[in-house]
Amino acid sequence: MAERFKLFFWVFFVLLSNPAKSQLDELFFNGFKGVGVANNLSLNGAAQIQDNGVLQLTNKTQRLLGHAFYSNPIQFKNSTDGKAFSFSTSFAFAMFPEYPKLGGHGLAFTISPTKEFPGALPGPYLGLVNNTDLGNLTNHIFAVEFDTVQNLVFGDINDNHVGIDINSLVSNKSAAATYFDGANNSNQVLNLKSGQVIQAWIEYDSQSNQLDVKLSPSSTKPRSTLLSFHVDLSLILQESMYVGFSSSTGLLSSSHYIMGWSFKMNGEAKSLSLDQLPPLPAESKRNNNTGVIVGASVSAALVIILVSGLAFNLIRKIKKADVIEAWELDIGPHRFSYKELKKATRGFSDKELLGFGGSGRVYKGTLSNSNTQVAVKRISHESKQGLQEFISEIASIGRLRHRNLVQLFGWCRRRADLLLVYDFMPNGSLDKYIFDEPKTILSWEQRFNIIKGVASGLLYLHEDWEQTVIHRDIKAGNVLLDSELNARLSDFGLAKLYERGTNPSTTRVVGTLGYLAPELTRTGKPTKSTDVFAFGALLLEVVCGRRPIELKALPEELMLVDWVWEQWKLGAIFEVVDSRLEGEFDEIEAVVLLKLGLMCSNNEPKARPTMRQVVRYLDGELQLPEVVEAPQGGT
Ligand SMILES: *[C@@H]1O[C@H](CO)[C@@H](O)[C@H](O)[C@H]1NC(C)=O
Ligand SMILES: *[C@@H]1O[C@H](CO)[C@@H](O)[C@H](O)[C@H]1NC(C)=O
Ligand SMILES: *[C@@H]1O[C@H](CO)[C@@H](O)[C@H](O)[C@H]1NC(C)=O
Ligand SMILES: *[C@@H]1O[C@H](CO)[C@@H](O)[C@H](O)[C@H]1NC(C)=O
Ligand SMILES: *[C@@H]1O[C@H](CO)[C@@H](O)[C@H](O)[C@H]1NC(C)=O
Ligand SMILES: *[C@@H]1O[C@H](CO)[C@@H](O)[C@H](O)[C@H]1NC(C)=O
Ligand SMILES: *[C@@H]1O[C@H](CO)[C@@H](O)[C@H](O)[C@H]1NC(C)=O
Repeated sequence: MAERFKLFFWVFFVLLSNPAKSQLDELFFNGFKGVGVANNLSLNGAAQIQDNGVLQLTNKTQRLLGHAFYSNPIQFKNSTDGKAFSFSTSFAFAMFPEYPKLGGHGLAFTISPTKEFPGALPGPYLGLVNNTDLGNLTNHIFAVEFDTVQNLVFGDINDNHVGIDINSLVSNKSAAATYFDGANNSNQVLNLKSGQVIQAWIEYDSQSNQLDVKLSPSSTKPRSTLLSFHVDLSLILQESMYVGFSSSTGLLSSSHYIMGWSFKMNGEAKSLSLDQLPPLPAESKRNNNTGVIVGASVSAALVIILVSGLAFNLIRKIKKADVIEAWELDIGPHRFSYKELKKATRGFSDKELLGFGGSGRVYKGTLSNSNTQVAVKRISHESKQGLQEFISEIASIGRLRHRNLVQLFGWCRRRADLLLVYDFMPNGSLDKYIFDEPKTILSWEQRFNIIKGVASGLLYLHEDWEQTVIHRDIKAGNVLLDSELNARLSDFGLAKLYERGTNPSTTRVVGTLGYLAPELTRTGKPTKSTDVFAFGALLLEVVCGRRPIELKALPEELMLVDWVWEQWKLGAIFEVVDSRLEGEFDEIEAVVLLKLGLMCSNNEPKARPTMRQVVRYLDGELQLPEVVEAPQGGT
């Protein structure tokens, strides 16, 4: 049956008639399912072959490496004259970043003297090299990278490119990923991050020293070449080399898959028929991207429309207070009934009170039908005007999903009250672990992890959503900790609502003293950059274990940023690290964080890094500048 045949892998081993050395001539993996694969492919790191025959190089975990190489070395050079042989390969791959707009690094077809890469780094290094051996000629590594993150240190041209790499991740030549669409007679962008199956062809002709790379979303090899490079690989390759794939994730993560692979020495590798390859794992399809989430919310909304449509009149009659208007049915997150939430919080009992913010009271609740623990925030919303906008905002917040954001499950409206239902965070808010007399002192690793988490969540709000979401109120009290002490940002997007809700005629500056960027008090206009400023204040707090403005401190220590800057200038920077850590911290990381804290705290918005850069600095992908400017300007 064709179905069964599809999943089979076959490997041709044609031996050359050279009696001294048996030389592999061709490889053909139509999927990787089958007996003996483990013996023909060496996998390390996160690489594994899935049950249906797809080779998975990485999953969506941060900072993974994945290598899959043909087990035996292949002779790449003529031992008599030292000339590299011609070769050709084609393979089909797909990449599913956790956050589709941000990408999750990439993968590289690789020819290397080893199939293990000790000391190689994840993230932009693609698991091939580290920062000390970068560019070293003794590496003898040749790779073609398929990269979804623009790394400025390596001079990447964009966040969707193919590059030829020799001993380094600084590509010798690269091109934006496109393919020639014959039907359209034009070049189309080929989005490497989209999760679609893409076939790549790499061909080296040793006569002309010409290397060509082609890409297509189909089974047919295109005539036009994406990337051509003149290079004599005899100077780079050794006689005996391993061939395969290397891949990595960083703070930005992604699942990387190879569905099929064909390789041939001294001849043209057979192209793969994409429809005969094993199907992509369902997991990746589900997580595909926002399209799916939006789709899901739309269909959820349809269900709500149907169900609520029937219930509509009934509810109206029974409980006039629980108002539902037609447009409300049109939105995503679940609408809870007031009764359900009242029951969950035991009648909004004071015993269940988790805290109050400027925004309202927060209660702990247990949903009776699923036994799920939730936090219910009760906000009173006086102005009738702008209510629809308010709710549609809630709808869009409800569709934001990220591991470092507190998930909004649903909402309810009753008279002037708006109730928001969130995932319950057992460890409460970060401020309780830093200020005053915390019961638990967070270790250095926990603090570093929390800062990375906040940065990751904020980058998602700034750059991965269909519209930029400015948080507006980043502070320790708005960072909640889950059961594993991972940071989860809460209250995102809401500040705008409070502002609008209270009194639409005046623009009230929302935010918290000490976290407010100077230009914000002037202009009243929150931006991504004002969020970065607040993030800087938060970062310094976590490292130093105190508030940005500490009235109880000595006058010269009143403002945290100024104090850190003074100590920095004196070369006594470790003085500012929270003394409760008793010196138990990583000095290199401390310097990175404090420098970054100072950069984010710069009074000049343009001098602050973007969250994307912040994430790269934290991930070690960007080198922090040697010299940090004074946050207040001048010296
Ligand atoms: C591939 O694996 C099979 C089964 O283990 C083994 O017999 C064969 O020798 C391997 N081929 C090569 C070229 O390593
Ligand atoms: C991803 O791969 C890593 C390394 O192999 C493994 O530890 C982790 O459990 C995997 N995660 C998932 C969600 O499969
Ligand atoms: C290797 O090079 C020698 C000398 O140029 C040539 O005679 C021989 O055919 C080559 N061998 C292969 C396998 O290409
Ligand atoms: C860098 O990688 C090389 C091997 O490629 C390894 O020998 C070296 O120890 C690594 N350096 C570090 C600092 O890990
Ligand atoms: C390149 O690597 C080799 C071996 O690891 C080392 O001896 C040499 O110093 C390195 N060269 C440079 C320029 O870093
Ligand atoms: C390719 O780039 C590497 C490192 O950037 C450089 O050392 C090498 O000379 C370049 N090779 C060619 C053929 O351009
Ligand atoms: C063909 O090109 C046009 C304009 O360049 C574009 O709008 C359209 O989507 C393309 N069609 C296909 C099938 O790619």
